Amino acid sequence: MSTLEEVFEETYGSPPTLLVRAPGRVNLIGEHIDYNGLPVFPMALQHEVRLALRPRDDETVRLHSNDQRFPPIHFEIEPAIEPWKKGSWGNYAKAPAQELAERFGIWQGFDGVLESDIPVAAGLSSSSAIVNAVGLALAHISEVSTEPRSLAAVMADAERYVGTQGGGMDQAISLGARDRCAAKITFHPLRLRHVVVPDDWCFIVADSGDVAEKSGALQAAYNLRRKECDEALRVMTAHLATEKITAQLCMSYPDLCGTIDAETLIKISEQVLQGSLLRRFRHAVTEAARVDEAVDRMLAADVHGFGALMDASHASLKTDYHVSTAALDELVAVAKEGGAAGARLTGAGFGGCVVVLASRWTVGEVLETLVTEYFERRHQAERLEERLFVAVPCRGASIREI
Ligand code: GLA
Repeated sequence: MSTLEEVFEETYGSPPTLLVRAPGRVNLIGEHIDYNGLPVFPMALQHEVRLALRPRDDETVRLHSNDQRFPPIHFEIEPAIEPWKKGSWGNYAKAPAQELAERFGIWQGFDGVLESDIPVAAGLSSSSAIVNAVGLALAHISEVSTEPRSLAAVMADAERYVGTQGGGMDQAISLGARDRCAAKITFHPLRLRHVVVPDDWCFIVADSGDVAEKSGALQAAYNLRRKECDEALRVMTAHLATEKITAQLCMSYPDLCGTIDAETLIKISEQVLQGSLLRRFRHAVTEAARVDEAVDRMLAADVHGFGALMDASHASLKTDYHVSTAALDELVAVAKEGGAAGARLTGAGFGGCVVVLASRWTVGEVLETLVTEYFERRHQAERLEERLFVAVPCRGASIREI
């Protein structure tokens, strides 16, 4: 098989001059709360997007992918780039171009060839890795800051171009991660606290096989949850101000969670909110508390404590947030049967993957149980190495000359 550089030369007739890589991620805990400004705790994966490129002297971006599913694209950089139709992969390249053009006036394009081994539509941020890789390339060419945190904030805004009102977790971890570490990410301002993953902990990623295509039909369900969280916050803060429990009428989720403890907040919310607003609010508040606790459990190398928090997170995502599926629930149950310390769906849900925590001593048994009781039973055991693997916490995106 030809290397990325060889494909580049075959495609464009001369060698590339820059090589970018941007990893996917698995979120350990803190799901569906980044868009509320609440903390999350992901790590970057060994799977990544690689982009070989050569800058051009004009506004054109030409991009080929090694993956047959993604046909070649080209477009001109300008501050208002017309998106292709929903679901087109090229929109993930247009997104950073348009954002950087609008904010920093960049115009210089490139010829590029891209390859990726991040499973697609599996909740492992394959699309944010494309946004980050293209964004890092364009920013580097035009000498815009590529400092991970400032670029991550720009890329988080950029990706909303595709229509999903995402938070900033995926872009931040893919750009800012460190080797061997997970990172607690807090927002406004964006900060990453790097925590070394204990040597004898294994995070297994298992793909349910249900496709979680975020730019498709599930986009509406995702965006609706964000709206419901906003509405729940509005009702709660108005109530707290009227009752003179807090002084401000408008508060953010982090302000609220920093002022009143989770247990009290839940008690009040059970009186003030109903139906899905109550459930979304309860998930957001309890999940944020679990993230703080999870960081402490990892620092203390308490595998069972961390695992219990993952289990509680899954239960909350299933019953209060309604983003799980029968297949994800089954994977979680099978992993637990196999002796996992904890398991939960990871990413936006509605399909995709689970993340499972096991110790070095139990990981073999957990993997074996997942193979026999889930993948073989469902006759899905082919190309298993892509669907079941132990995650290696890797460093964030980089660019180098070749
Ligand atoms: C997607 C979004 C993230 C985050 C997760 C759910 O991956 O891009 O910002 O909201 O879903 O935690």
